[in-house]
Amino acid sequence: MCGIVGYVGPQAAVEVVGEGLRRLEYRGYDSAGVALVAKGGVVTEKRAGKLANLTEAISQRSDINDQHTGIGHTRWATHGVPNDRNAHPHVSSNGRVAIIHNGIIENFTRLRAELEADGVELASDTDSECVAHLLERQLDTGGDLADAMRRVCNRLQGAFTLLAVHADAPDTVVGARRNSPLVAGVADGEYFLASDVAAFISHTRSAVELGQDQVVTISPDGLAITDFDGNPAAGKHFEVDWDASAAEKDGHDFFMFKEIAEQPKAVADTLRGRFAGTGEISLDEIRMSDQDFRDIDKVIIVACGTSYHAGMVAKYAIEHWNRLAVEVELASEFRYRDPILDRSTLVIAISQSGETMDTLMAVRHAKEQKARVLAISNTVGSTIPREADAVLYTRAGIEVAVASTKAFLTQLVACYLVGLHLAGVRGIKFADEVAAIVTELAATPDKIATVLSGMQPVRDLAAAMPNADRALFVGRHVGYPVAMEGALKLKELAYMHAEGFAAGELKHGPISLIEDGTPVIVVVPSPRGRSVLHDKVVSNIQEVKARGATVIAIAESGDDIISAHADHTVFLPVVPTLLAPLLTAVPMQVFAAELATAKGLDVDQPRNLAKSVTVE
Ligand code: M6R
Repeated sequence: MCGIVGYVGPQAAVEVVGEGLRRLEYRGYDSAGVALVAKGGVVTEKRAGKLANLTEAISQRSDINDQHTGIGHTRWATHGVPNDRNAHPHVSSNGRVAIIHNGIIENFTRLRAELEADGVELASDTDSECVAHLLERQLDTGGDLADAMRRVCNRLQGAFTLLAVHADAPDTVVGARRNSPLVAGVADGEYFLASDVAAFISHTRSAVELGQDQVVTISPDGLAITDFDGNPAAGKHFEVDWDASAAEKDGHDFFMFKEIAEQPKAVADTLRGRFAGTGEISLDEIRMSDQDFRDIDKVIIVACGTSYHAGMVAKYAIEHWNRLAVEVELASEFRYRDPILDRSTLVIAISQSGETMDTLMAVRHAKEQKARVLAISNTVGSTIPREADAVLYTRAGIEVAVASTKAFLTQLVACYLVGLHLAGVRGIKFADEVAAIVTELAATPDKIATVLSGMQPVRDLAAAMPNADRALFVGRHVGYPVAMEGALKLKELAYMHAEGFAAGELKHGPISLIEDGTPVIVVVPSPRGRSVLHDKVVSNIQEVKARGATVIAIAESGDDIISAHADHTVFLPVVPTLLAPLLTAVPMQVFAAELATAKGLDVDQPRNLAKSVTVE
């Protein structure tokens, strides 16, 4: 979703802002722009399409070079098609104020009508442009840019991160946030504002987290924060624990390949130091007592996309280990169906970014209903963990590719840890039982590495089918959410029609999609688990084979029964049934990424998608 960068300091702002935008590209965008301010006034440039278009346009300008204050934006269109006109920055009528915005201003229709009634001619179709004109009007009534920003913010409804510059304040950038991310970077004599720290990580690792409904001013003299009423406020300082090299590709063609390869480490890091040996895990931040956990009589997991699939796997593990009912719900649906929850409900919100608006709104709804909220997130200090009662951070490191891979595996680990923690605290499992599962978990990084080292056949299979127009993914038990995740990966990366089904559902409809040669990827349960599951999947394979499907099975090493039925079998190391998704998801990721590569597509930034979806 939109990326935002602001800079004041001794360097050429166009360079710093441009580099920040490049580092925020992973969030997804369809146009980009900058505004630079110096004594002479505000200059802007903006272009639809990739950053290269903007860079080319800037290179033709003689008036964009040595300004030391600037803002930049990558836009993911909500109101108004992606074109030059709707790209940010937007400028006020007198040309002296420029703004950039991430989010949606819900009352923009009213604000726009009010401005138009006053004779303002809006130059774009966006909700954001209103803010530039409103700021100009407020500045006309007195006060500085920060005063104007506070007054305007009090009129806005919805979600926004805003940055503004003003020709009369050439050393200042003013920012504001409500329900949308904004973080400040602090270096010697220079300051940054950005959607996330990746934008300024090559300049400083010293960061300040801005709170809800705050306005921040950066200038060479420092950083000042107030609430929307002008009362002084404080941000929370933190040091970023990764550096710029973590955001580079490390020799891979795409970040996604690098991130797939990093999974053994990401899983090991997420497990490290979490288990005390007494059946308790260490949550990172906890505002819940053991008694709170014991009082829980129902768990509801809310999440979107890949994180939702992690939640579906968690349901199997938490229910099995705790004998406690677990519901899993798409965050975007949750609050609109009036869910039944109270103070003995534990809502687990899973979000890699910690900023997904649908999940954030589900969290807020849960808290209004007095439920306890535990966040699982990969982004320290992001909004969802901040608003939750307890937090378990995954330690995947920055995930740049839009398609989630290492974040998914580490979410699974976090869910397992939460399930075991609950089982321990609630006295459902003895410490040695918990320890036995944790030992199995601790062995998974090596097994994931083994899976990765055997992926050439999967790459070959993917490379051989760039012309396939559809694929089905099926599984049973924990293999079912993995099948859905495999289909999601293929959809988002290879733009193919792919669906994930519970294997038992095939004959209730989807089997009619199968034609000669249709690829069906089957996640096969272990024959050592509940044998009925394995037998049923064998039957399902026969059903689709009989209708012409090409079956690619993902099965446990030594499962000779499956290899006799499937066209291709990918064998994986033996792992306990509930932990199997940590391995079975990996060939799906490789398959989708390779197929997208074979089709010549942008693996890291698929069309229409954003990494962090900060609108509902
Ligand atoms: O940051 P979140 O985990 O809340 O993001 C949720 C989804 O938007 C995300 O998982 C999305 O589905 C990925 N692109 C899937 O690869």
